[in-house]
Amino acid sequence: MSDWSVRRINRLFDFTQAQNYLEIGVEAGLTFADIKAQRKIAVDPEFEFDVSKRLSLQDSYYQMSSDAFFAKFQADLLFDVVFLDGLHNFSQTYRDLINTLEHLSPEGFILIDDVFPSDEFSYIPDMKEAFRDRARSVAPRELTDYSWHGDIFKVVAIIHDFHQNLQYRTFWNGENAQTLVWWDYEQARTTRFRGLAEISNLSYTDVLKNFDILQIASEEEIWKILEELREEA
Ligand SMILES: C[S@@+](CC[C@H](N)C(=O)[O-])C[C@H]1O[C@@H](n2cnc3c(N)ncnc32)[C@H](O)[C@@H]1O
Repeated sequence: MSDWSVRRINRLFDFTQAQNYLEIGVEAGLTFADIKAQRKIAVDPEFEFDVSKRLSLQDSYYQMSSDAFFAKFQADLLFDVVFLDGLHNFSQTYRDLINTLEHLSPEGFILIDDVFPSDEFSYIPDMKEAFRDRARSVAPRELTDYSWHGDIFKVVAIIHDFHQNLQYRTFWNGENAQTLVWWDYEQARTTRFRGLAEISNLSYTDVLKNFDILQIASEEEIWKILEELREEA
């Protein structure tokens, strides 16, 4: 479990009116179980727990891919906080983002996990390839670092250039970097990339060169921004 996810997500509900939570990619449900929301929806093609033992009126479990979930989900329900932590590659996470936007409440938040790769291997979109290449790089020593983030940084790049009605900051305080996204209709950003093709081809070196587009901030700074937004509303 990542304590920081639970801490950040539960705090976000202080800034929303309703308390509807969606988690894409739930695994053993460690984060999901500790989220204090009134209504919670879990989506994972392979839950690592017995769903039948967790059923309740407030919680729903969809054992399927996020694509299948969004294709069928029609409930008259808007989400206030959505945690995107499913398959860690650019295309899938971007699909999850744009599908989520259709169901996000006006003051809702999306938290995207694993946006900053810890090294060039961590950035490889296929987990097995990432571990294989890192193992080769440390051979003949044994591989001990199994961190893997995939190329989700590209999702932040696409938000930066293509979603001018979204504002975001990336939590950066020594724990896993996660990007927080919310609606914003006031600020246009100057675009950085030549187009979608450039974004989808960003290398690990490009990630480092374009580090600033993460818009990193400490948790305290982000809560301050959200408090100011709440006061303005
Ligand atoms: C890193 S784990 C999630 C951890 C969990 N959010 C937590 O904080 O404890 C990633 C999960 O994403 C799931 N997953 C993989 N592909 C997916 C997809 N297409 N849609 C939804 N979930 C997916 C995997 O089965 C795995 O359980």
